[in-house]
Amino acid sequence: MTLIAPGAGARTAAPGTPVPFTPSSPLTEPTANARGRVAFPEGFLWGAATAAYQIEGAGAEGGRGDSIWDVFCRVPGAVVHGDDGMVACDHYHRYREDVALMSRLNLGAYRFSSSWARVMPDGRTPNPEGLDFYSRLVDELLGAGITPWLTLYHWDLPQALEEAGGWPARDTAYRFADYAATMHEALGDRVKIWATLNEPYCSAFLGYTAGVHAPGRTSPELGLAAAHHLMLGHGLAVEALRDRDPEATLGLTLNFTVSDPVDPTDPADVDAARRDDAVFNRIFLDPIFRGAYPQDLLEDVAHLGLADHVRPGDLEIISTPIDVLGVNYYNGGAVSATPQAGTRPDGTASPEGTAGPDGERTPDASGPVRETRSPNPVPDGVHPHSRGLPLTDMGWEVQPEGLTRLLTRLQRDYAGPRGTALVVTENGAAYPDVVEADGSVDDQDRLEFIDRHLRAVKDAVDAGADVRGYFAWSLMDNFEWALGYTKRFGLTRVDYETQERIVKASGRWYAEVARDNAVPAQD
Ligand code: FCB
Repeated sequence: MTLIAPGAGARTAAPGTPVPFTPSSPLTEPTANARGRVAFPEGFLWGAATAAYQIEGAGAEGGRGDSIWDVFCRVPGAVVHGDDGMVACDHYHRYREDVALMSRLNLGAYRFSSSWARVMPDGRTPNPEGLDFYSRLVDELLGAGITPWLTLYHWDLPQALEEAGGWPARDTAYRFADYAATMHEALGDRVKIWATLNEPYCSAFLGYTAGVHAPGRTSPELGLAAAHHLMLGHGLAVEALRDRDPEATLGLTLNFTVSDPVDPTDPADVDAARRDDAVFNRIFLDPIFRGAYPQDLLEDVAHLGLADHVRPGDLEIISTPIDVLGVNYYNGGAVSATPQAGTRPDGTASPEGTAGPDGERTPDASGPVRETRSPNPVPDGVHPHSRGLPLTDMGWEVQPEGLTRLLTRLQRDYAGPRGTALVVTENGAAYPDVVEADGSVDDQDRLEFIDRHLRAVKDAVDAGADVRGYFAWSLMDNFEWALGYTKRFGLTRVDYETQERIVKASGRWYAEVARDNAVPAQD
């Protein structure tokens, strides 16, 4: 059964004008889904997600070239404890065992990414051995009845292409489309769901503006150039994939914040929320769904050269219809025109790391200190405020109702009018797991986090959002980027000494949810 109608993206709806930002208010009333058993629509897709650099390891095997993350991990102070992805979860060698694990979790789909530097070590030349790894993985998944959901780019640009200019260079977009075509050539007979990019916000602004992710640059101009070229690469890749297979399900994954003004009656705070929403959400949503950059964003960043990169025809390519929008949600954030006590003047997270959505990923200062800055290319007057909500081990606020608001907004203003389905492609939480003497992990905090977010998804479905599936982040503990192996998001614990996988309480619970297509009543 096809879960997302192939070619569902309406090719008739003409791109419209950008939608102005309207702040919404946190949802405080309990809904019908708050406590009891919650059944999901028939055919709802249950999955778990990973990414190549975070789990594969085999960094120097099979002809793989360096990616920007390999190089970044060698920079003193870039990654906590100097960790890297050379071994990670050793998934490259253990993929059969990991697919068996997915079967035990009753997953209907597995969202993973391919490493561009594994299949094209110099970013341009196909490497049969690298392609063969993904071919074997896909066969294993299909043999287990698990739908492969392949993301082509989860942050690991081949270093050779970074040296040729990286994402700030226009040519990288064309190299990406070639890579997409190469992957389709190898796997298109078996992979039917293709996502181009994961979280271009992070690639552009954590990588080229904040300097907290690879390649570690700290320039607002480069971040904006990268954002445009990532979008162009997305559009070119969708065109290339659509040409090759008109029936494929195509899309990309964006990460979102829900920007709330600290004081909704203060126009300055509302404007801070508008600006935050523009550089985080609408900078990608409007080009993709409406074929134009938001006018207010263009004015906010007018001095930073974004418009100079936009050539005639680019926005038509970028707004090529897609079938599914992947939604990654961890939390939203309250913002104000004035700083909160304890927050740094540049608007980045407070020393306690409490404020800010998943755009704030400042590594702890245990190693040599590197220059970093806000991911926001225009951060002046946009200050994150902590709301005193419970925090995960990432310092991110636990805010399930934000997911309901996000999904209903996406349905109303972006995906809905163009007939694009929504799927939550990442949601989950890091907590400091305690391993019992028998090796078990009773992670009730993570279980409750996912339970509450699934109820929030159902609230959005009940409000009319066309949400077709949910992928937990993550199938297993893994390399959490600049935070190395210090943060654990898995439904499954990984013992990095022995590579043993131990399903956590949250994983056993999630397996029942997937089996029953329902969240059980809370005790
Ligand atoms: C997302 C990334 C994913 C993981 C989670 C915690 O931004 O896509 O790789 O790091 O955050």
